[in-house]
Amino acid sequence: MSEGDSRETENNQKVVGVRRLKEAMAKPASTRIFTVANQKGGVGKTTTTVNIAAAMAMGGLRVLVIDLDPQGNASTALGVEHRDSAGIYEVLMGDTQMIEVIKKVAGFPVLDCVPSNTSLANAEINLVSMVARELQLKEAIESISVNYDYIFIDCPPSLGLLTINAFAASKELLIPIQTEYYALEGLSQLLETYGVVKKRLNPSLNLSTIVLTMFDSRTRLSNDVAANVRSHFPAELIDIPIPRAVRVSEAPSYSQTVMTYDPLSPGAIAYMQVAREIAERGKAKEEVVFDSNVVSINYKGGIA
Ligand SMILES: Nc1ncnc2c1ncn2[C@@H]1O[C@H](COP(=O)(O)OP(=O)(O)O)[C@@H](O)[C@H]1O
Ligand SMILES: [Mg+2]
Repeated sequence: MSEGDSRETENNQKVVGVRRLKEAMAKPASTRIFTVANQKGGVGKTTTTVNIAAAMAMGGLRVLVIDLDPQGNASTALGVEHRDSAGIYEVLMGDTQMIEVIKKVAGFPVLDCVPSNTSLANAEINLVSMVARELQLKEAIESISVNYDYIFIDCPPSLGLLTINAFAASKELLIPIQTEYYALEGLSQLLETYGVVKKRLNPSLNLSTIVLTMFDSRTRLSNDVAANVRSHFPAELIDIPIPRAVRVSEAPSYSQTVMTYDPLSPGAIAYMQVAREIAERGKAKEEVVFDSNVVSINYKGGIA
């Protein structure tokens, strides 16, 4: 077994081997860069980021997660050392290069993580005085994006400069919506910010994907929220709700995603299906190439 194929997680649960699905997921034509954002906390941004990323890596895609939240929950869930090492903060401040802070997530073919650390909490203030303060992340990503099929940026629960940096660096926006009472509150503010960024900073940003999280099919509320989102965002919604499931919430305390912690649990299966659907929607179209130099001649018999 090569180095990186096994590791002891913080709670001594051993992850062994490299996880790979039998049926590979479709590759995009070029790197798809997603911001995962919602200024509400606790709606499933981090959970959605790490599990979709892990599922895609298992599907044979090359995936990078950038942890842009000072809390470092994505780094924790991926079992990546982050508290005492340089991470995305040092990159944003221009103190180090992106390539220097990329860490490999053990147990997956190609799943990498740029961790955050607590210094990142200073970024909102320290970025303000920088030239092109909204574009620091975009510039940093440009140097490494060709190495990946998918890049996911996990945002903090605010619409501050960190999230704006993510918007500016991305091609697509993924919004996780928790299927509960206040789910749609705040969505208009998020969409407004998205509109401003699209107009002023990044015209190619596209709200492409909405994922419903913590869905409880027994409650009318969950079903009402789902129906509401379905009617407003029929094209963007991935209509495979992620169920509220205890294994999903347990996994991070074992420094794992649910994809390795309990791959056959309902939450893992749902995230796997959502990941496959996102990959399907973004797959490279097969080009029909007509080569005018090749002329098909059907000879019958010999040369006349
Ligand atoms: N499908 C789910 N089932 C059960 N618990 C979940 C689910 N998704 C997320 N959680 C839990 O809800 C909390 C908030 O999720 P998290 O992904 O950290 O949200 P955010 O990043 O938006 O703040 C976490 O404790 C997480 O483990
Ligand atoms: Mg989070």
